[in-house]
Amino acid sequence: MNPEMKSQNPSNNHKGLGMYFSPEIAEQFAGLEQNESNFKAAQIVDLVLVQESATMKAPIFAAELGGGAHPDRYHEFFNKLLQQPRGHIDWVDVAPPMLELAKKYISNEKYRNRNEIITFIEKDILEYLRGLENEKLDFAIMKYTVDYLENLEELFKLLSAKLMPGGKLIALIGSTSPELKSYSTNARYLYNGEQFPDNETRTLEDGDNFTVKFFKVSGDPTAGYLEGAETLKYFHSAEKIKQVAEDFGFAFFLGDWKDFVSQENQKGETKDLNVLVLTKKQFDCNNDGLQGGKIIMNMNKIEILKKVCYTELVYGRINKKLNIDFSKKEIEEFIFKILKETEEKFYSKIGKNYYVENFENKIRITINSNTFRIITVDKRGVKKP
Ligand SMILES: C[S@@+](CC[C@H](N)C(=O)[O-])C[C@H]1O[C@@H](n2cnc3c(N)ncnc32)[C@H](O)[C@@H]1O
Repeated sequence: MNPEMKSQNPSNNHKGLGMYFSPEIAEQFAGLEQNESNFKAAQIVDLVLVQESATMKAPIFAAELGGGAHPDRYHEFFNKLLQQPRGHIDWVDVAPPMLELAKKYISNEKYRNRNEIITFIEKDILEYLRGLENEKLDFAIMKYTVDYLENLEELFKLLSAKLMPGGKLIALIGSTSPELKSYSTNARYLYNGEQFPDNETRTLEDGDNFTVKFFKVSGDPTAGYLEGAETLKYFHSAEKIKQVAEDFGFAFFLGDWKDFVSQENQKGETKDLNVLVLTKKQFDCNNDGLQGGKIIMNMNKIEILKKVCYTELVYGRINKKLNIDFSKKEIEEFIFKILKETEEKFYSKIGKNYYVENFENKIRITINSNTFRIITVDKRGVKKP
């Protein structure tokens, strides 16, 4: 059985993803991905998955987020999912041509049985996660797709809700260095939409976007560009990824995969490649706040940081009450920063609401303790006790 689920809103207006919505360009791009370096990257993700799933209880439930055209990879992991009790993988991509190609790549005899455990889902990554029941995922796999998402906080917040305790995000990220090179093996990079000289670099700040223009032949810039194959990505530095991961209570690893996978599980592969592995911690309410020697925040505050959410109406209310004119994203970032910076002792629960009193910014945030919706934000003249 190979059920297919479609998004309510066809998402062909995704900024910078046009190339994946064109059947011709998508097909050429997927063909270009059939190269040694790409096979090895998938194999490394496979080795990480195999190691990390070894102690997990079957059946395993995974999702490849921004799956693209190649479920003809991850051979060991698929073998594991196909064993009884059978696991499952949701293959999520917003672009229909990429999903069509994905189906084609596993239509041959060798891979056909993978259809029995894959659901292809035409959805935006965040929309998919929002619709998923909490604590459902053992693994979220994001191979070169984290940098398609502008809002890292929202991604990690959703993952912290949707992963099981002990569940993991396993991701490959193009680059976490602020230095934007002018080109790589596969593509040229544009800064502010403009090409810059080969021997120069540009410096990116967190949240900046940059354009990627793919070459027609991988490793050969002289062959020119694949027409129309241009996409937009967002820069997230290693520091930012670590900080947001820790804000949401994840154990964090970002570094060469060989420092993460034990030698016996490396299967002779020697390629250097950074992987990001976030593990959702299993909280112990009885512990004393010390984990691995590191003081962690009280669970209430972490829970609020993880779950805080907004209704459409509340953005306008916050702007009015604080006499500001912030966008939704700016409001969310501002509130998140205040919640994070406010010491636990200034969090209180009265009746059905949490009240977070921030003296530095002279504001009080009111949050519904059942739904974690922001109710209101008030200016306060009170002094720190
Ligand atoms: C560079 S390809 C990588 C595909 C695959 N992960 C791999 O490594 O082979 C990026 C894919 O992510 C998908 N994608 C990008 N942003 C997305 C989003 N917000 N929601 C769903 N899919 C997305 C694109 O449609 C495209 O198929």
